[in-house]
Amino acid sequence: MEANELIKKHGSPLYVYDEQVLESRITNMINFAEKLKSELNVSKIKMHYSTKANNNLHILKKIKQMGLSIDSMSPVELRLAELAGFDKDDILYVCNNVSLQEMLAVIDKDITICLDSISQVELLGQAKQNISIMVRINPEGVGIGHSDKVDTSGKKTKFGISEENLPELFKVCEKYNIKVIGIHQHLGSLFLDSDIDQFVTGVESLLRIAKTHFKDLEIIDLGGGFGTPYKEDEKELNLDALIDKLKPVLSNFLNEYHMVEFKFEPGRYIPCESGYILGTVNSVKNENNRIWVGTDIRNEFTS
Ligand SMILES: Cc1ncc(COP(=O)(O)O)c(C=O)c1O
Repeated sequence: MEANELIKKHGSPLYVYDEQVLESRITNMINFAEKLKSELNVSKIKMHYSTKANNNLHILKKIKQMGLSIDSMSPVELRLAELAGFDKDDILYVCNNVSLQEMLAVIDKDITICLDSISQVELLGQAKQNISIMVRINPEGVGIGHSDKVDTSGKKTKFGISEENLPELFKVCEKYNIKVIGIHQHLGSLFLDSDIDQFVTGVESLLRIAKTHFKDLEIIDLGGGFGTPYKEDEKELNLDALIDKLKPVLSNFLNEYHMVEFKFEPGRYIPCESGYILGTVNSVKNENNRIWVGTDIRNEFTS
């Protein structure tokens, strides 16, 4: 259907998604996990779609229906995940700086929670003991992505717990009998082929921290960041090349450690290239040798 017809039928402005593109992106992520599983000869690798990339309920339902898991980071995202039909075992709650009530609500639903600081573990521990959690680690100095602004690891960022602070984390965990069953990292967003080595360096760093400090992990979450081309000279991320580089690193780790479930959290990669926003041009003017086009595209959706 033409853009004009869509607007006539549904009104303006309008978000439109190309279902085939969306499905192909989800399929790429499923195939990535399946191929990595068979290369590593493991049964558990889970892809958790990161809802913050796009929380449209129809998109979430499609993701659920095709078999991915989900990552939520707020009560609204959690509610949407439930409405889309995700089971508690397929939801991971990866949050920062949240209230005790929010943490307890997640734990009461028996959903795995990943905490970002020792003070959050302390806050939770005062209210709830004998529980299992995941924690976000900051693998120092390793960040990826298309700009410093989306680099979410290393010395300049607020995310995660650094290696030097782990002894303090373990003290708090011991005080409240809290078990760390998983560790997580998210290095940044939109990495493409030229950043694969840097991504793998971040993975190596997290795995070294796992071996050195954590003896009983069940889950290692390597985060998201899977890029998609934005500029004309950029190419699609080569997922096979990423697997080739990850395979030796993950398989050496499994040989020296014990079986864990690897997780990834792809966000933007999944919906990004399927979405369009259509709007109506309300004015055009030529001022100071520039053409200005005024549209109705603004955030005033009511339903
Ligand atoms: C913790 C976490 N996981 C996953 C993602 C998804 O990242 P991306 O959309 O780059 O894949 C983000 C994005 O900020 C994030 O903060």
